[in-house]
Amino acid sequence: MKILNIVGARPNFVKIAPLMEAYKAYPSIQALLVHTGQHYDKKMSDSFFETLDIPDPDVHLGVGSGSHAAQTAAIMVAFEPIVLQHKPDAVLVVGDVNSTVACSLVATKLHIPVIHVEAGLRSNDRTMPEEINRIVTDAISSMLFCTEVSGVENLHREGVPEDRVFLVGNVMIDTLVKQQPKLQGLRTFQELSVSDGAYGLLTLHRPSNVDDPTVFARILDALEQIQQDLPLLFPMHPRTRNNLQHGPFGQRLQRMTQIRLLDPLDYLGFLHLMSHAKVVFTDSGGIQEETTFLKIPCITIRENTERPITCEIGTNQLVGTQTDRILAAYQSILQGSLPTPSLPPLWDGHAAERIVDAIHRYLPLL
Ligand code: UD1
Repeated sequence: MKILNIVGARPNFVKIAPLMEAYKAYPSIQALLVHTGQHYDKKMSDSFFETLDIPDPDVHLGVGSGSHAAQTAAIMVAFEPIVLQHKPDAVLVVGDVNSTVACSLVATKLHIPVIHVEAGLRSNDRTMPEEINRIVTDAISSMLFCTEVSGVENLHREGVPEDRVFLVGNVMIDTLVKQQPKLQGLRTFQELSVSDGAYGLLTLHRPSNVDDPTVFARILDALEQIQQDLPLLFPMHPRTRNNLQHGPFGQRLQRMTQIRLLDPLDYLGFLHLMSHAKVVFTDSGGIQEETTFLKIPCITIRENTERPITCEIGTNQLVGTQTDRILAAYQSILQGSLPTPSLPPLWDGHAAERIVDAIHRYLPLL
């Protein structure tokens, strides 16, 4: 059985690592890795391969950045001959980035089954590019692996046959569980001159937040007040840094002396900072899940989440982008007035093993 596994952007690397490891228990499966090149900076790509022991890609498409249409199309054009050459039994995609949908479309049109890991998540916000990627990928996938019950329910509502849907847990948490012991001895937060549990960690990269000046101004109004009370560490995605360098907000942020602007961090450095933070502010999807697992309070600066379980039983508060709501959520954390969180079912470090076991059993029956 030959499977082409696709990665392109930073969160994909974290998700593919445990799957590449789990394949090793099945000599009958030949698992090849294809990197589309959607992310290409060392800090956004190579460092993750090194830290997470991901094998070097068998194929690198080298596509790079572009508009949604240009990037998605370039990945499709580059991936099609790879599929024709390798004639895989399946193409496995993870998450919801442009590489995910591009490779799913190519495979399906060549009658190759698509396996989607992290299927069924829905923000119900079609202005979000990832939501389109999720809907399209799920509609054409043959095996759909879900991280939480909402994903199973969404797929059921959309008419996906039950025998194609598997609730398996979360491969991103598999990686976290495996890497956690390596945090011993790291001194990331000490080196940034902050104290254990006495700083906030901030990430922002969604176009809806950082490309819209009105929204970004509202978020900065809240952060300006919070940093007077709590130092904030802000590792910046290249998109955010570009916007700040060329937009009106760079100087304003520079004046907020308790916000430390940092380059993107490697996986372990970021995990270390997340594990010791008092609170995490983010618009990322994966960080909502990682903070839930770590039981670190998370304030999600978005209007919706495709990961509702992190709010229902985890540490996540979905607050939108209004200044007063961000500040109110911060106050609720200071006051310790939140319910005791718990862990979602099957977030136990073994999702990838369940996925590869199911592929081994059921793919030949498709
Ligand atoms: C992509 C995903 C998003 C995910 C995020 C994680 C899509 C639609 N979006 O968003 O879901 O949360 O990755 O990081 O696929 N850039 C660099 N170096 C790089 C990569 C990007 O400088 O290695 C800059 C470029 O200016 C590029 C911009 O970042 O144009 C955006 O990159 P892109 O891959 O298009 O989307 P992300 O915002 O990273």
